[in-house]
Amino acid sequence: MLMQLCFQNVHSFFSALLRWLSMMLSSTLHPLGLISRPKIRTKEQKEGSSAQLTTPSSVNYHFTRQCNYKCGFCFHTAKTSFVLPIEEAKRGLRLLKEAGMEKVNFSGGEPFLHERGSFLGELVRYCKQELQLPSVSIVSNGSLIKESWFQKYGDYLDILAVSCDSFNEDTNKVIGRGQGRKSHLDNLHKVRTWCQDYKVAFKINSVINTYNVDEDMTEQINALNPVRWKVFQCLLIDGENAGENSLREAEKFVISEQQFQDYLDRHQSVECLVPESNQKMRDSYLILDEYMRFLDCREGRKDPSKSILDIGVEEAIKFSGFDEKMFLVRGGKYVWSKEDMKLEW
Ligand SMILES: C[S@@+](CC[C@H](N)C(=O)[O-])C[C@H]1O[C@@H](n2cnc3c(N)ncnc32)[C@H](O)[C@@H]1O
Ligand code: SF4
Repeated sequence: MLMQLCFQNVHSFFSALLRWLSMMLSSTLHPLGLISRPKIRTKEQKEGSSAQLTTPSSVNYHFTRQCNYKCGFCFHTAKTSFVLPIEEAKRGLRLLKEAGMEKVNFSGGEPFLHERGSFLGELVRYCKQELQLPSVSIVSNGSLIKESWFQKYGDYLDILAVSCDSFNEDTNKVIGRGQGRKSHLDNLHKVRTWCQDYKVAFKINSVINTYNVDEDMTEQINALNPVRWKVFQCLLIDGENAGENSLREAEKFVISEQQFQDYLDRHQSVECLVPESNQKMRDSYLILDEYMRFLDCREGRKDPSKSILDIGVEEAIKFSGFDEKMFLVRGGKYVWSKEDMKLEW
């Protein structure tokens, strides 16, 4: 009897140890804790090499290319007017969730343009309420957002990023950030207040280029108090804002590494600043276009995969050019759910 009891205890100890070991092996350690890992395997892994597993944990879905602004440096231009039917877009988002997506960011073009924001709102609600994604975010130029949108969909949104490259309205006009006589900065301030009122984390994106490179934005950024301020070095993408068949010629906006560094140095007191050089940007984003094709930017252009709707996520992601290590190095994984941010509303 005593022998049998001892045997059972030893047996259950080793079973628990084995379960723990297998959990550790199928997980990866990072600053947010243990993230359960992938069902997706790269081609190399299938062929038996030791390449890293690829999980689409954070995806940028540019569901429309249409926009009401004409920023001269824009690298995602209105080459088509196609937008998927909403049920297909939802099917794709579900496939991504099943493949490990934790965060989705809706971008464009201008995401609030299509169906006056209701298409976007329905996708935001679907991702939070039905897919239960930890983080749902949007990046917008801020010009078409209405308070009624926040009333209807604000609860489902974790982060809203508004692009602002300058606090000088004339500079915004030269860049092309504007429509008619409307003030880009007035819109920015309005949206910032609604984010506070409707409990959505507020973020700012700025593209540093020849027209704003000498500006000091410290005071205004501190006053707006975003959770994150993404500062991008203006990037050229062949076929989008450079080269033949592109809708923009952004060469005159490009700045050097040194100019970018000087800009960062000038703003080093801003704690929420997150810098993104050209190199960091090119291969550390998973970008889905309007057909739900991954876009590979490694060669300086956007080479599309087939659509995840046709071949599935596992097959399509092999052509995404996504560098998961660079994604982690650039701080792509952060506290991205508003519940986990210690915000004062
Ligand atoms: C393509 S826009 C789409 C969303 C929205 N229309 C906006 O402007 O925020 C997404 C982000 O890319 C940034 N962006 C556009 N062109 C860029 C470029 N050439 N280099 C770096 N960032 C760029 C925008 O400023 C914006 O923050
Ligand atoms: S960067 Fe400017 S032009 Fe391009 S999508 Fe955004 S607002 Fe439109």
